[in-house]
Amino acid sequence: MRERYVLVFSLLAVATSFVGDCSARIAPDFIHPCNTTEPACLVQATKDAIPEFSKGLPHLGVPSLDPFVVDDLPIQLPGIKVTFFDGKATGLRKCEVLNVEAFLEKNIFNLEVKCNITIKGKYTAVGRLLLFPINGEGDAKIKIVNSVIKMNIKTKYFKDNDGRDHFGIKSYKYTFDYGERIFYTITNLFKGNPELSNTVLNFLNENWRIVTEEFGQPVVDYAINVTISTAKKFFDAVPYDELLYVPIPKY
Ligand SMILES: *[C@@H]1O[C@H](CO)[C@@H](O)[C@H](O)[C@H]1NC(C)=O
Ligand SMILES: *[C@@H]1O[C@H](CO)[C@@H](O)[C@H](O)[C@H]1NC(C)=O
Ligand SMILES: *[C@@H]1O[C@H](CO)[C@@H](O)[C@H](O)[C@H]1NC(C)=O
Repeated sequence: MRERYVLVFSLLAVATSFVGDCSARIAPDFIHPCNTTEPACLVQATKDAIPEFSKGLPHLGVPSLDPFVVDDLPIQLPGIKVTFFDGKATGLRKCEVLNVEAFLEKNIFNLEVKCNITIKGKYTAVGRLLLFPINGEGDAKIKIVNSVIKMNIKTKYFKDNDGRDHFGIKSYKYTFDYGERIFYTITNLFKGNPELSNTVLNFLNENWRIVTEEFGQPVVDYAINVTISTAKKFFDAVPYDELLYVPIPKY
């Protein structure tokens, strides 16, 4: 009889300590809060967080960014309609962190990263490409080498239902430098005409910068939008005081 009590009691103790742990800290272990907003610390903390963060945090409602699934992305270009589907983007977890700045009073957060990103999937393309009528359907792979992404984020603060402070994202701007090189591998650009498909693919690769400036914008807008909304979900889940050990400004 006595042993049974002990058992029940220890189970209860274990259970309550779990509950206690959960309410104590929501942020995952790879979040290493800085004690100041010194860029050196923010850069290190961001480096520490990216590899795990980009895998996603399902229990906090934060989806994976690497791999990042692209189910269906229509891209309307002058004269040609491209649809990219069954796709996957990878590489984010290995981004190099170049700079991170936070100006808490001014609600400014800047982030600069350098990344190699590979996007792979299927596509259809109908319309005109350069001078040729195009009706393509096949596999596409885009490899982006050493692109530099700079984000300027306007932050805000807000309280959740329990009265805890959170970071919020009010708006953002970004610049995207396509980097050193982009490699396109696209099959079957012109159905039934491998020679022409190959010639045009070579042309795309030789003129990768102009080509990318032409059609890259909607893709990058989409990718940045997804990244920002993922960050928002994270900030909604994890309170300010678990992300940064610096008193929150009055707001
Ligand atoms: C912040 O300060 C605490 C206590 O002094 C220390 O243990 C911790 O390592 C510091 N964090 C960072 C990221 O420097
Ligand atoms: C990207 O790949 C290139 C070539 O493979 C490599 O030299 C470079 O260090 C990589 N950059 C990053 C940010 O990982
Ligand atoms: C991001 O995507 C959402 C949903 O797809 C859209 O409603 C929103 O306007 C987009 N935001 C920006 C800033 O592009």
